[in-house]
Parts: sequence; C-alpha cells; structure tokens
Amino acid sequence: MNRQEVPQVSYWLQTAPPGDPFPELVEDLSVDVAVVGAGIAGLSTAWELCRRGRSVAVLEAGRIAAGVTGHTTAKLTALHTLVYDRLRRTRGPEGAQQYARSQSDAIRCAAGIVEELGIDCEWEETAAYTYAEDSARVEELRAEVDAARAAGLPAEFVTETELPFAVAGAIRLPGQAQFHPRKYLLALADGIRRRGGLIHEGTRIVGLTEGEPSVVTTETGVKVTADAVVVATHYPVFDRALLFTRLSPRRELVVAAPVPAETAPRGMYITPEQNTRSLRSAPYAHGQRLLIVTGEHFTPGTGGDVEERFRRLSEWAEGHFGGLTFTHRWATQDNDPTDSVPLVGPLHPASRHVYVATGFGGWGLSGGIMAGQLLSTLVTGGKSPWSDLYDPRRVASVVREGTEFLKHQAQVARHFVGDRLPSPSGPAVTDIAPGDGAVVHVNGQRSAVHRDDDGELHAVSARCTHLGCLVAFNRAERAWECPCHGSRFDPQGRVLQGPALRPLEQRDL
Ligand code: FES
Repeated sequence: MNRQEVPQVSYWLQTAPPGDPFPELVEDLSVDVAVVGAGIAGLSTAWELCRRGRSVAVLEAGRIAAGVTGHTTAKLTALHTLVYDRLRRTRGPEGAQQYARSQSDAIRCAAGIVEELGIDCEWEETAAYTYAEDSARVEELRAEVDAARAAGLPAEFVTETELPFAVAGAIRLPGQAQFHPRKYLLALADGIRRRGGLIHEGTRIVGLTEGEPSVVTTETGVKVTADAVVVATHYPVFDRALLFTRLSPRRELVVAAPVPAETAPRGMYITPEQNTRSLRSAPYAHGQRLLIVTGEHFTPGTGGDVEERFRRLSEWAEGHFGGLTFTHRWATQDNDPTDSVPLVGPLHPASRHVYVATGFGGWGLSGGIMAGQLLSTLVTGGKSPWSDLYDPRRVASVVREGTEFLKHQAQVARHFVGDRLPSPSGPAVTDIAPGDGAVVHVNGQRSAVHRDDDGELHAVSARCTHLGCLVAFNRAERAWECPCHGSRFDPQGRVLQGPALRPLEQRDL
C-alpha cells in the first residue's frame, strides 16, 4: 500500500454532509460563556449550557468536528483497555467507581441526545472488548475484569468472540455504543444554533485575559467578553498551569477496508498487544461494512518511517481478516495524561472562571461528552460527584504516577536541550527527495525544508512556535511535527494542530 493507492482521508469527514459553514467572527461580542474549540468536548459543553439557558459562543479555528473528533475511531465505551485495575491502585476503589459511572453516564447522555434531536448518526448499541491473543496476558485481563466489576461495570471474562481469529481471553462489556461522530456533531451544532447559541468557524483565538468578565481575542483582534471561558482545544492553547508537563501527545494510524456485512465484527475491540490494535466496523455501501483498524502509535515527530507503520498496520489487518482492499487511511492524535485520568475543570489553581478539558487518552468521545456535563455543571455553579476525580489541579495522583511523569519530562527535556545545541552535520537541501522534508542548516539557521512532488522547495523555520523545540517531517502525512507537545504544521508552516498558535516563520533559501 502506498500514499497514491489509498486515499488519505477520514471516512467520517468524507461521508458526512458538508454542512453550511458557520461565519467567521468579525465583530466584538459579549456572552455568558465563550467555548474555545468545536470538537466533541466543546460542542457538548455548549449544548449543555444552552439547555441551561446560558448565552454561548463557540469559537473554532477551523471547521467544527473536523479535527481530532473527525479522525477518531468513534467508540463510546467505559471499557478503556485496562484502566480500572490501575485506577483502583492510584485513585482507590471510589475513584475507579466514579470513573466508571461518569463514563457510563456520558454514553447514556449521548443516547438521550440522539433520541431527543432525532439524529441519524448510525448509532449502534454493542459490546466493547479488551482482548489478548497471548495467553501470558490472561491474568492481566482477569484482574481488569475484577476491577471493572468492583467499579460497578457488568464486565465478564470470555474466551470466545466473533473475531475470525482465536483469542486467549477477552473482557466483554455490554451496552456500549458506536456511531458516526461527525454526523452526530453536525446535528448537535444545529441544535445549539436553534437554541440561540453562536458558532463561529475560521475564528482562531490567540489571547486570553482572565477576570470578571474574561476576554478572549481572535488573531484578527476581535474580542469576546464572557463571564466564563472553556478551553476545549484538545491540547490546551492556554496553559497557565503547565499542564503540558502532564500530557504526552500520541499519534495513531487508521486503515479501513470494506468487508461483507456477515463477517464484519459488530463489537468494538482493542488489545494492548502489538503496539495496540483497535477494531470496529461501520455501516458501508452495497451490503458491506467498513472494517476500521487503528494502531502503530508514536510520539509526533518521532515516528520514523510512518509509511512503513501504515504498511505494518495494513498487513496485520490483512493477516487477521484476509481479502482486504483498503479504501481509506488517516491518523488521529491523542494526549495521554500521566495518571490515566483526563484533566477537566478549572484551568489553574487561581482560576475562577476559566476551565479546561483535555487529556482524554484514546477515549475522547465518552470523555468529551463527560466533560460537557461536568463543565456545564461547574460553570453554572453546581456540584458534580466527579469534579475531584478529574480536577486538573490534583497533584496526589500525579505524584503517585511519578515514573510516567518523569519519563515524559525526560523525553521533553531531551528535546528542549538537544534541539538548542549546535548540530555537527545534517542533510543538505539537495539531499531532499520529492515529497520529503528535512531540517537543514541555511545561513546559520535551522530551516524546515520540504520539496513538493513538482520539485519546488518550501522553507520555514524549524523552531516550533509553541516553546521552540525542533520539528521533524512526517512524509506519509506531509506535515511538520513537534515531538515536545505534538503541534503540527503543514509544509507551508500553517498550524494544523496546537498547542502552537502561530505558523512557522517563512524562510528564504
Ligand atoms: Fe511545544 Fe512544540 S508543541 S514546543
């Protein structure tokens, strides 16, 4: 499989109606709540706030539901691989119970919204599984079943599944769901609009002044004054509590192929083996279903030959299912919190009116909906049983998870320091093949240079505009990626993904 043969496009973005664009914000505005970011966390928060009678403006730099949420595998489940055994050790039995309840509540909440708004989003109730092919992992699966049951989930250990290959064991959790995330979110956005909420696309927020009220400012200088601000930009674009020290960005690849409906798995599967493999299927044309396989994760900017990773993932899918012709491939990006629990609540210790939702790991759909419920409760002065569990200001569990925290910090520190040292040698511009890119020394500076398929060169600064680490080229996706906190830029230097807010500086060669 190569880039030319398989369209590089998310199935969810390709198959949802384009939707009428929402207008860019061009004049100052005053609302009760400004929500920055229109993925599932931002739109869920806005929806809940509109329901509670608050005036809301959602401010999105690109198109709604086209970022991380438009590239997910779209599983709605409270079974998050092997999280409960870990949670009961780090957050105690009560913490594990709250996690299970809050995530299960989010799924029920989404089902209620689908029914209330009559959303046609291919909603399917199904079971979620965490499985292993290697019998050495069975004990781990059994411990997770115990922990999940103690947390209140009806999980069970099974040895038979519908998969066309043998498993040594699996955890099965019934009553979960899968859907088409962009169709769901377009309908939710329409519901927000009909309830008087404002949504502005093409509106990048670059400034935040906290106060009573707070003010957010767009890159064109337009101001939105709000009693409360919710930062739901996946990786927080305003990070006043150094949350980036507790989040590790992770990029993950997705390949998809139609299979006969009668042989397609109807459940949602994940295994921690093989650098993680995740499976589900979705309704497709001609009596088929689309098999969607995710895996081969890596830290952005350090993936090496990403094309080779796509090949490995495709071969794994072919080896386990057989007869596949891939029709789509794409990639998604997650932020893993060091203690496995998302960060949802006040942005920093002194924050009274600014909130954040981030760190959902690979579970951003149930997590994003949970964040909408939790943040709308906090913004309107209510109390939530899970506010302590998800509070970004927590320190105890982070300390208990010291190894993960230090490991991540060591990696980032290596880039922070190493990227500032003079490098003895590097490739020359003439070494860069069409379609590729490299960081080269030009006039004593490090430039990120891409040669397009026509041979034309595009040069930008190699310093990430977030905190200055050096970017690296991902040839398979034609993007510059920052290994420190996962910012991504297109070959012309434009921001594809934050936390960076500004493009890479243009350079002359
Ligand atoms: Fe933080 Fe690049 S994303 S330095």
